[in-house]
Amino acid sequence: MEQEQVRLEEERALQDIESAKDETSLESAYNAHLAKKGALSALMAQMGKMEKESRAAFGKAINEAKQKVIALYEQKKAELAKKKLEEKLKKEKIDVTLPAKAKRIGRINPYYQIIDEVSEIFLDMGYEIVEGRDVESDRFNFELLNVPKDHPARDMQDTFYIGNGVDLLLRTQTSAAQAHTMLEKEVKTPIRMISPGKAYRRDDDDMTHSHQFAQIEGLVVDHDISLANLKATLELFAKKMFGEKREIRLRSSYFPFTEPSVEVDVSCFNCQGKGCPMCKHTGWIEILGAGMVNPKVLEMCGYDPKEWSGFAFGVGVERVAMLKYGIDDIRRLYQNDIRFLKDYVGK
Ligand code: DAH
Repeated sequence: MEQEQVRLEEERALQDIESAKDETSLESAYNAHLAKKGALSALMAQMGKMEKESRAAFGKAINEAKQKVIALYEQKKAELAKKKLEEKLKKEKIDVTLPAKAKRIGRINPYYQIIDEVSEIFLDMGYEIVEGRDVESDRFNFELLNVPKDHPARDMQDTFYIGNGVDLLLRTQTSAAQAHTMLEKEVKTPIRMISPGKAYRRDDDDMTHSHQFAQIEGLVVDHDISLANLKATLELFAKKMFGEKREIRLRSSYFPFTEPSVEVDVSCFNCQGKGCPMCKHTGWIEILGAGMVNPKVLEMCGYDPKEWSGFAFGVGVERVAMLKYGIDDIRRLYQNDIRFLKDYVGK
């Protein structure tokens, strides 16, 4: 009699589960038969009132029935989930003909573009690239460049001092790399190098000045180097950098580490020398300082000036970038604004 009850309940449960058309009706079949308050659990509750002898057989029958019902429930659940997914996939067809989303490609900051371009030009001429250091000693930044303590040229190059505030500083010019290069050569051999890097000075921070900026230093030391070599080299550089038609002119100037010293202008690449706001209507744009290496510097750095001579130059990276790309404010070069890179570079 009790066994029959189990058989009937099993049949009903299997039928309900089998006929479930969706997840909701499957769940209500589960609640009706398998849940704590379902029919199979209710049968279990009857066991307490039964004779000891029939109790075991009854319990076994319920458990077997329960296993069958659970197995069908799991199978049905998986089937319904699969069916649901298939229907969803049918509805959500992907349109492969739609154009893909455009990739956002980054750009090199003009600051580094200029350094790369200048480096390439000088590498082609057989120069090597020397890495300088941002933190320098007073000796390399000033003394070895013929700027002794109390030299008036120091006034314009106040900087950030480190440690005891006397010896270590953030370099004010990449020219410090000149002294390192010469002194590091145990056997004195010819030098052809450029050294790009950052320099620091106490300065106003405004549209054209920054307390941090970049320079590209150049140094050539060999036998019989003359001002003519300097001029020819810089002319070639100006043409490669700003166009074949460019000319340069040298104006006399003063730097403690060069003698004679010059400032180098390039004919305006914006107006071809006719005169425009970029060249302040002069037809010329100043791009760098240069000169013949002062014999005192050669001597201090271990190159006998009777035997060796050389020229040096220093290019202001931001200045060239601003002129070449028509950038109005130096601060834009450091702000990492992607809109700036898109608007200004490569125009
Ligand atoms: N160091 C100079 C400056 O900071 C730039 C410079 C001028 C470098 C003449 C040179 C040079 O090597 O020969 O203004």
